[in-house]
Amino acid sequence: MTETLLSVRDLKVSYQVGKGSIDAVDGASFDVPRGSIVGLVGESGCGKTTVARALTRVIADNASITGGQILFDGQDIAALPEREMNALRWRDIAFIPQSAMNSLDPVYTVEYQLNEVLRRRGGLGRRQARARCEELFEMVGIEAGRLGDYPHQFSGGMRQRVAIALALALNPKLVIADEPVTALDVIVQRQILDQLRDLQSMLGISVILVTHDISVVAYVCDRTVVMYAGRIAEAGPMDAVLMEPSHPYTMGLRNAFPDLKGAASGVLTPIEGAPPNLAFPPPGCRFAPRCPFAVETCTTQQPALGMAAPDHRVSCHRADEAAKLRQEAARTETWLADV
Ligand SMILES: Nc1ncnc2c1ncn2[C@@H]1O[C@H](COP(=O)(O)OP(=O)(O)O)[C@@H](O)[C@H]1O
Ligand code: SF4
Ligand SMILES: [Mg+2]
Repeated sequence: MTETLLSVRDLKVSYQVGKGSIDAVDGASFDVPRGSIVGLVGESGCGKTTVARALTRVIADNASITGGQILFDGQDIAALPEREMNALRWRDIAFIPQSAMNSLDPVYTVEYQLNEVLRRRGGLGRRQARARCEELFEMVGIEAGRLGDYPHQFSGGMRQRVAIALALALNPKLVIADEPVTALDVIVQRQILDQLRDLQSMLGISVILVTHDISVVAYVCDRTVVMYAGRIAEAGPMDAVLMEPSHPYTMGLRNAFPDLKGAASGVLTPIEGAPPNLAFPPPGCRFAPRCPFAVETCTTQQPALGMAAPDHRVSCHRADEAAKLRQEAARTETWLADV
């Protein structure tokens, strides 16, 4: 058994749009160690959901995985026949889709929906399924007496807990949660994240937590993968990436978000401009049009994902100047100039 549960290697995913295509994920590489929470973070449209869905191979009709490997427990699931892939879903890899709390079926009780997974996919008998439903509800902190309720009878936070219970139903090794706390207020966000963390450590599973909010990553994740415009900007241990970022985009993100832990956050400085249109990405570094530190090479050559430290990767031509750039990035004026 290796320490790495999931290893994504040079993953490419494209959407066919009319006669053209959008390379929404253009060579993503990152690892998910066993028993860890990995935050996949970046602005809206950078390809997080596309990566998350590619990992479960539940992708849009116009999407295709055009390259790379997804090594799960050593097996390349990007190349797995659909029937074998389907057998892995829920049992080994469970996916909590974006807005899962609104996607529970309103016409069925939550017990019915849990049973769909437990009985149909898991092959449990009626009594076993009932016991498991009660156990799952206890795990996510909802009274078993509410199993017969309909989704609309739960608050947003409780529906998200139900979605987590569904994902955990068949004891998966990996749970991928797409923006699980995005629509919730900060207090409920913390409760859900605390619970996700408790369950992750109790069950020893791995979690990929997809979020646009870097403070969510800071609050709960062990590792961080920062995406920008379909590529990985930086990846490594959470503290190293967020406290001492080596990529200017991560430096900028850090300035732009309040701290979920409630610590004094100072002035928030947004990164000016918008991510590129992925149908016509700029040559070279995709962050160059917004980067205050761009030099000529940045606009012509794509930076490789290199080593900032043994366990910390970064894709920036100026990565070896990171300490100096961090000091400049801490000043608001840096982000107002040049753009
Ligand atoms: N079905 C689709 N067809 C065409 N383009 C899509 C489709 N789904 C997503 N995209 C595009 O792919 C890019 C990445 O989207 P997505 O993975 O949803 O980003 P994120 O989850 O980070 O917000 C965006 O430019 C988005 O417009
Ligand atoms: S490669 Fe250049 S443009 Fe891209 S993040 Fe680094 S310094 Fe900025
Ligand atoms: Mg998304």
